[in-house]
Amino acid sequence: VGNVAERTRGLLAAFSERTGSAPEGVWAGPGRINLIGEHTDYNDGFVLPLAIDRQVLAAAAVRTDGLARCWSTEDAYADAPAEVALDDVSPQDPPQGWAAYPLGVAWALRQAGVGVPGFDLVVDSDVPGGAGVSSSAALESAVALALVDLVGAQLSRPDLAVAGRRAENEIVGAPTGVMDQMAALCSREGHALFLDCRSLHFEQVPLDLDAAGLALLVLDTRTTHSHATGEYGERRRACEQAAQVLGVPALRDATPEQVDAARDELGDVVHRRARHVVTENERVLAAVDLLRAGDLRGVGSLLDASHRSMRDDFEISSPELDTAVEAAQAAGAVGARMTGGGFAGSAIALVGVDEVEAVTGAVGKAFADAGFGAPYLFPVTPAESASRVPIVQA
Ligand code: GLA
Repeated sequence: VGNVAERTRGLLAAFSERTGSAPEGVWAGPGRINLIGEHTDYNDGFVLPLAIDRQVLAAAAVRTDGLARCWSTEDAYADAPAEVALDDVSPQDPPQGWAAYPLGVAWALRQAGVGVPGFDLVVDSDVPGGAGVSSSAALESAVALALVDLVGAQLSRPDLAVAGRRAENEIVGAPTGVMDQMAALCSREGHALFLDCRSLHFEQVPLDLDAAGLALLVLDTRTTHSHATGEYGERRRACEQAAQVLGVPALRDATPEQVDAARDELGDVVHRRARHVVTENERVLAAVDLLRAGDLRGVGSLLDASHRSMRDDFEISSPELDTAVEAAQAAGAVGARMTGGGFAGSAIALVGVDEVEAVTGAVGKAFADAGFGAPYLFPVTPAESASRVPIVQA
């Protein structure tokens, strides 16, 4: 973790070392946390994420020979780039490894009619990977913005988000929704992003931590997940099945009362999956109302309720996530819940600034007592979405 100016200098040097010339620019894409609204995005529902002050930085230059070469400043990738002819990238023969994200974005942009001729790319990240803070959308958003800027294409931010989602769905093979890419591309500093995932209509909702005397902590359990594996897709299918039984286009269109009335037809498991989604949509709307009324503390009990719903109804928590959430709550957090796709990764806690130390200590102790590896706790602030990084010559 370093400041952006310093990391950018390092990245410029890394780009020159690897390619023998300077990049045409550097672009930043942030990670995100989701304040509330989990597994609602692919049900056409509501989410309330925010970009965080951790970014992927991408240095890039156009190539005219149809090749894409991708490097990361992480040691394992320092020498040989992932190198492919862009014409060879397709869902039938997808690239493997982390380069599937940037190559997938290039593929999706070409599908959208953007003439990406080829590129050299070097990325540097301080977004923890696999931790539930969407290092993937951070990378996709930085690359998407870089590529359209490099070729001078005019695409809206939501169009870039949709390209990122297609990369993830069709090239990486993870059946995710559009929340993470929208958060990385449409968030504003000091705000959470209230997004309707059906229309992609969004509004900025003020999230003033300082005024409320609160901090937002990420509790990274240091256990990792992949959404390309079965459980995420299985949850998604249960939701689609529920919508079909209820006779609605998506669970967005169902109320908790309708879901409960159909308990027998749905069966216990699908009923609980659907109940999570429809109650979660209501919690998002309630959270937006509270934030607009300036009552950030009031959101705390919604976070707690969201976690219970994910733990008991959607069943996507884990012993580590439950331990982090419960320890934070017991130590005085205003509210806490797992964030992101689930099964592993991170929780978030809304904590009074004077309670940060106690909560940090309590989560560490609970992990040690349970025999888990040490968690990684860090505060985040609502940050700006992806942007071009100004390069100041030394
Ligand atoms: C992952 C996916 C998102 C969303 C969340 C769950 O982060 O990428 O699209 O479905 O899980 O809310």
